Amino acid sequence: MTTLHPRAFKVTVVWTLGLLFLGSIVHATESSLACPDWPTCFGSMMPEMSGGVFWEHLHRLVAGGLVMMFGLATWLAKKETPDRPWIFRASLAGVGLLLVQSVFGGLTVIYQLPDLVSTTHLSLAFIFLSLATMLAVATHGSVGPGAPPPIGGFGADDGRRLTIIASIAASSVFVQSVVGGLVRHTDGGLSCPDVPLCLGQVVPPLVNIQITSHFLHRVMAVLATVAVLWLYAWAMRADVPVRVHRWITAAAGLVLVQVALGVLSVLTVLAIPPVSLHTLVAAALLSILVALATVGTRAAVDIDAPKPVSLP
Ligand code: HEM
Ligand code: HEM
Repeated sequence: MTTLHPRAFKVTVVWTLGLLFLGSIVHATESSLACPDWPTCFGSMMPEMSGGVFWEHLHRLVAGGLVMMFGLATWLAKKETPDRPWIFRASLAGVGLLLVQSVFGGLTVIYQLPDLVSTTHLSLAFIFLSLATMLAVATHGSVGPGAPPPIGGFGADDGRRLTIIASIAASSVFVQSVVGGLVRHTDGGLSCPDVPLCLGQVVPPLVNIQITSHFLHRVMAVLATVAVLWLYAWAMRADVPVRVHRWITAAAGLVLVQVALGVLSVLTVLAIPPVSLHTLVAAALLSILVALATVGTRAAVDIDAPKPVSLP
């Protein structure tokens, strides 16, 4: 039987990436307070789409579309996966996350962009993207007890190792992104105006949150890059299927592009294209790493196998 929920989860992932990119443009174009109210914009759901209102209200409309799309995916999952109840429960958690995220979006406007609320808005977006990616990959291809993993030619040991290394890389990219959000929202983007040094020093005077978070973001960039390249080095030696290898290579390429975009953001004094792409590439990288970790898990364990009954 053809099922629709896997496709709906995949569309959600792409939609979320587009929404994240738009959100980043909202900030970069200084449109965050272009709509002074929430949930309406100038008291209307259809304000005149010009200037900053264009970006801010478009972001809200696309966010509304995401809630509907993910709601549909969740409904389909409930109907189509009665034998895998965890899929519906995880989707339901995603719906909750989206609603909280929309309220945080509203709070950024009502309280006029408090640093922590804006940084939380970014972090929740990345958490939702990870959940949607996990669901898209977990429902891809044949599923159910005893079904083969979505990408064959994988040993359980390699699957387990892939999950561990990809999870470490994904966690470091996530933490690095949260720190990046802090840099952005505390206006620390130019507190180290030089690269690779910061204020002409290897370790700058860490006298305020702007310099401290910016410096930490650069140190953590090295750690996150090493984690992703470690995955690549492992894949060169391991016996992984060609498709998995391609995605790992894409992740390695993206992390290098991401570092270049970070440097470019500083050198161009936070020009809109590099800073907006810097958010998008961070999100795409996280999504690929979460997808790889999920593929590894499906190769290592049969997540739908009936649980052994424990005897008294
Ligand atoms: C109606 C609901 C929403 C409203 C009112 C809203 C509002 C905003 C505003 C005002 C900004 C700019 C924040 C700033 O400059 O500090 C923003 C940025 C952003 N939004 Fe939303 N948003 C909503 C829903 C969402 C959803 C559902 C997601 C993703 C799942 C999302 C992801 C983002 C991202 C990633 C940014 C960029 C944050 C950054 O650059 O650090 N938003 N949003
Ligand atoms: C793996 C490496 C990296 C990742 C995953 C990463 C991720 C991020 C993320 C997610 C943000 C927040 C964007 C937003 O709030 O919308 C950010 C901000 C920022 N990142 Fe990175 N980054 C990395 C490396 C770098 C490097 C190497 C530099 C510079 C040398 C850099 C410079 C910046 C700057 C200046 C900001 C603030 C932009 C602004 O104020 O608008 N990043 N980063």
